[in-house]
Amino acid sequence: MTTTPTHAAVVTVAPRAALEVIQVPTISPAKGEVRVRVGWTASTPLDLHQADGGLLVEHPQVLGDGLAGTVVEVGEGVKKLAVGDEVFGFVWRSQKEKAHQVYTTAPENFFGKIPNGIPPEAAVTLPNNFVTAYHTIVTDLQLPLPWPRPDDHQPEHADSAILIWGGSSSVGQYALQILKYFGYRHLLTTASKKHHDLLKSFGATRCFDYRDPNVTKSILHSIPNTEKGKAKVPFILDCIGSKEGSVAPLAQLAQRGTRVAILLPVIIRDATEDGPAPEYTFDVQSSADWADGVDVVGVRTHFYTDNSFHAEHLQPSIMPAMLGRGIVKPNRQRIVEGAKMLDRAQRALDTLRRKENANNAFLFLFLLTAKGEACVC
Ligand SMILES: NC(=O)c1ccc[n+]([C@@H]2O[C@H](COP(=O)([O-])OP(=O)(O)OC[C@H]3O[C@@H](n4cnc5c(N)ncnc54)[C@H](OP(=O)(O)O)[C@@H]3O)[C@@H](O)[C@H]2O)c1
Repeated sequence: MTTTPTHAAVVTVAPRAALEVIQVPTISPAKGEVRVRVGWTASTPLDLHQADGGLLVEHPQVLGDGLAGTVVEVGEGVKKLAVGDEVFGFVWRSQKEKAHQVYTTAPENFFGKIPNGIPPEAAVTLPNNFVTAYHTIVTDLQLPLPWPRPDDHQPEHADSAILIWGGSSSVGQYALQILKYFGYRHLLTTASKKHHDLLKSFGATRCFDYRDPNVTKSILHSIPNTEKGKAKVPFILDCIGSKEGSVAPLAQLAQRGTRVAILLPVIIRDATEDGPAPEYTFDVQSSADWADGVDVVGVRTHFYTDNSFHAEHLQPSIMPAMLGRGIVKPNRQRIVEGAKMLDRAQRALDTLRRKENANNAFLFLFLLTAKGEACVC
């Protein structure tokens, strides 16, 4: 009798309950897929929305959607990857793909090779955040990012104001750096004052403190008068998606002709340690009182593969090239320690819940399994 091999996975078992480790089947790669042993992974706001708010989950739910690890098995027809390759990737569609488990099995196009000289802890800050930024700029803001960038590339909207609300968030940092590289020159952003110099180095031309009660007026005043009937800020990316903290001020800024892309979900009430349960909505239109003629969309990175060019190139080639050539700098990292996989995963989630990243602009990472060693689960 043959037994199905299994491995350890970190799961939610109920809303707001402690995480657990369970054994799940180890899936051999089908055609075009690879199996990766997960090394580093991150705990992100989506993990918290899923663990505490039950957002789009069925328990037990494996958490995590970004990883750095080693290819251990390849399926038929895999062309770009081989056993032993060190890879990083954004994986999310089903339990077998999710990141907080010893092995993930997913299509090869969900991974890129980690560029030489880049530590896996730095590479793992990219996949979900970089893909979200690139996809949103192209799909939702409809600003082209032609790859490879032609030498004489001059975008039509090079001098139009583009506001990245929440520039120091994980997605915001990549959005600024990507836009700068593609020639967008009028980049405005909001962040705590202590991050303004960093964000200027990433391409922001003006930074504003989102805690300033006059922030929306200051942003509008910073822009020279535009042609009558044209929006002062025609493009806005909301990297925070907080009903009160970002969507409400953006509704004051957006004018007829502004296109606003909001990272979903819109957070009505965020997760806390002991307060009421979190609350979210996907309805961006009714999240604020928008002026007539404002075009508001909610960002769904999970559909980035609808763009066949992105499906084929975004993770395997664009993401490693932009990281390896220093066009984008990784987010800062804070490593969460713990004796076992479960301790590290729980601590990382708890730290997020306590909002220890507020003001700090770093990502909470933990080592799922050490390379070449048995899993201490
Ligand atoms: N729909 C999608 O495809 C998608 C993809 C990725 C993320 N998301 C969502 O996007 C949200 C942010 O994710 P993330 O990982 O980028 O977050 P993050 O890195 O944890 O963002 C934290 C930073 O946000 C800034 N911030 C907090 N409140 C703010 C406000 N009211 N205005 C401006 N900045 C504020 C703080 O900046 P300072 O340090 O400067 O104070 C803080 O450092 C989450 O809800 C996540 O689920 C959605």
